[in-house]
Amino acid sequence: MTRETWATRIGFILAAVGSAVGLGNIWRFPWVTAENGGSAFLVVYLGIVLLVGVPGLLAEFVIGRRSNRSPAGALRSLSGSDAWGAWGLFYVGTAVALLSFYSVVGGWILRYFVESGLALAGTEPAYFASPGQYFGGVAAGFDAVGFHVLFLALTGIIVFAGVRRGIELGTKVMMPAVLVLLVALAGWAATQSGAAEAYAFYLRFDLSVIRQNFFGVLGPAAGQALFTLSLGAGTMVTYASYVGEDRSLAFDGTTIAVLNTLVGVLAGLVVFPLLFSLGISPGETGTGAGALFVGLAGAFSQLPGGTLIATAFFAVVALAALSSSISILEIPVAFLVDEYDVERRTAVAGVGALVVVTGSVCALDQSIFGFVAGTLVDVLLTAGLTAFLVFVGWVMGRDALEEFRAGAGEVATALSTPWLFAAGALLPVFLVFTLLTTFGMDARLGFWPTVATAAALAVVIFAGVRGEPEAA
Ligand code: PHE
Ligand code: NA
Repeated sequence: MTRETWATRIGFILAAVGSAVGLGNIWRFPWVTAENGGSAFLVVYLGIVLLVGVPGLLAEFVIGRRSNRSPAGALRSLSGSDAWGAWGLFYVGTAVALLSFYSVVGGWILRYFVESGLALAGTEPAYFASPGQYFGGVAAGFDAVGFHVLFLALTGIIVFAGVRRGIELGTKVMMPAVLVLLVALAGWAATQSGAAEAYAFYLRFDLSVIRQNFFGVLGPAAGQALFTLSLGAGTMVTYASYVGEDRSLAFDGTTIAVLNTLVGVLAGLVVFPLLFSLGISPGETGTGAGALFVGLAGAFSQLPGGTLIATAFFAVVALAALSSSISILEIPVAFLVDEYDVERRTAVAGVGALVVVTGSVCALDQSIFGFVAGTLVDVLLTAGLTAFLVFVGWVMGRDALEEFRAGAGEVATALSTPWLFAAGALLPVFLVFTLLTTFGMDARLGFWPTVATAAALAVVIFAGVRGEPEAA
């Protein structure tokens, strides 16, 4: 059977944007930005997106398009090494871990969306009365398991329908809907009484947090950039493996990163005017689940027309989450289809059944959920992206340059060599450094020794790439 490809260029871009835009943009990005200095943080964050995120994205794209395989098959076939092939299994594990927590949250969102939508007919959504208590019920026991399975089933149906008729068609409908609804919500939010105050707070240029603890800001910024751009899991390798023709991966990657950042900024323009109008300080809601399901849910209850706003808002979050979860499920599914000739439907059913179990464990045990959604995912994504970068710099080398340049314009071509050095040396060192920072271990290593290591690695790669071209 011939392998599927995207039908259109915009199809690939929207699918990748669909993967990127998700919970990360809506329940984390606005708060992280606000807490770390507003637009001053935005500048640091944009720097990380351009210097770490986009090069990382392009590393995954290059691996995927070069091999036309999902991560495990890609690493094996491009390197000819069984060890790299075995490391590829790591990405299958990452996908299962990610999906286990993601579809649990997806289930909560689905529940809130259904609850709000049904209330449009007249009565109020049940969570209006006491949001905290309601969320406690939603997030526990068979309720949580049931909606997790429902969300997973929706994910499975789209992935089962295939690359073109499922993922591409689905994201072509979902992503424009997300954008239109979000812009409409931001427009509505602009008319709220707290809007001016909220903008002043959200977008203030405040350097004090960054001055005080630059590395403390760098870590969260890098972690956020990885998660939000879906890096390190192999999603972007897999999606790029369905790109049939030569066209500028650099251009596509930059477009995807810009759109993803835009959605994050927009989400803040929706959320903060709402909170400020009601006199709720963003600090009160916390981030993550508490912000969405308790803080905002409570805010909706106090607004005139709150049910409609809530329905639109949870529709946005549900679509954003669904278009991300399909990209996670596609990793192990593509692996089984590519490497073992398993039928797509069997692969979806098999992986789905496994995640029903692992996700239910997350749904039922708060501490396991917290560990998976936090530390585990952070470590897996950082390690996963580091390995891709090392692979591109040290195993693919010149092949990576060639693939990067295929279809690239002048600017991208000029940047291709610096990109390879960054991928092979600077970025892996940077990522490991930020990971150690997260665990408070950077002090022992020291900043300058780390920089020196990165520089030394860059020189070695430079020497390798400059050498005589190998016979093909
Ligand atoms: N980017 C998604 C989000 O922000 C999460 C994700 C991570 C999806 C890794 C796929 C792979 O919600
Ligand atoms: Na995202």
